[in-house]
Amino acid sequence: MLHSTVTSTLILSLSLLSAASPIPWLAARGTSVTEAQILKFAPSSNSCANPPAEGECATAKTAAKYASQSFQTYKVSSKAEQAAILSLMAFESDDFKYNKNHFPGTPGQGTRNMQSPAFNKKYASSIPALSSKIAQVANDPAALLDLLRDNETYDFGSGAWFLTTQCSANVRSALQTGSESGWQQYISDCVGTSVTDERKAYWEKAVDALGVKV
Ligand SMILES: *[C@@H]1O[C@H](CO)[C@@H](O)[C@H](O)[C@H]1NC(C)=O
Repeated sequence: MLHSTVTSTLILSLSLLSAASPIPWLAARGTSVTEAQILKFAPSSNSCANPPAEGECATAKTAAKYASQSFQTYKVSSKAEQAAILSLMAFESDDFKYNKNHFPGTPGQGTRNMQSPAFNKKYASSIPALSSKIAQVANDPAALLDLLRDNETYDFGSGAWFLTTQCSANVRSALQTGSESGWQQYISDCVGTSVTDERKAYWEKAVDALGVKV
């Protein structure tokens, strides 16, 4: 009798936990993103067969693992911020097929959000595990980028690093609302580029995929 009560209580709790986000705050926060969510806005990352650039392609599965890790490292638990970071990375890397700038091919520009060499230098300097290697590549932007590209943790971590260390508190709080104007501010005032229809389409799909708007 006691056994069956315990069992049914356990089953009830488990089914509550596994139901599709019965509690709004459970859906709205958390650092994990899934392969299925990434495929919704970066559908061509389902495969790395015949990659356009040798050694640069990553699948949605890899992206989900290391992006989730980066959200934990940099404490990005807002789904609106995650959608902005992920859509930027997917747009800039052509669904994770590239992690170096090819057009025109600026040396040292890269990682998944394609940040510029100056930011890669700052980013690499912030990583304790790279401290002994930084001096040798200080005057070689391409080699510095290779240090970051060599480890998926760093390659996929730059988007969350950039938002949490290079954007103002105002940009972050506007972005966290999930509004289009908040996202526009992030793109223009912090990333430093312009909003285009293609960028916006990525962002809108990522917002849907991550359940930013319910
Ligand atoms: C990548 O970086 C992380 C964090 O510093 C480290 O724990 C991991 O061992 C590195 N992976 C490789 C393959 O070097």
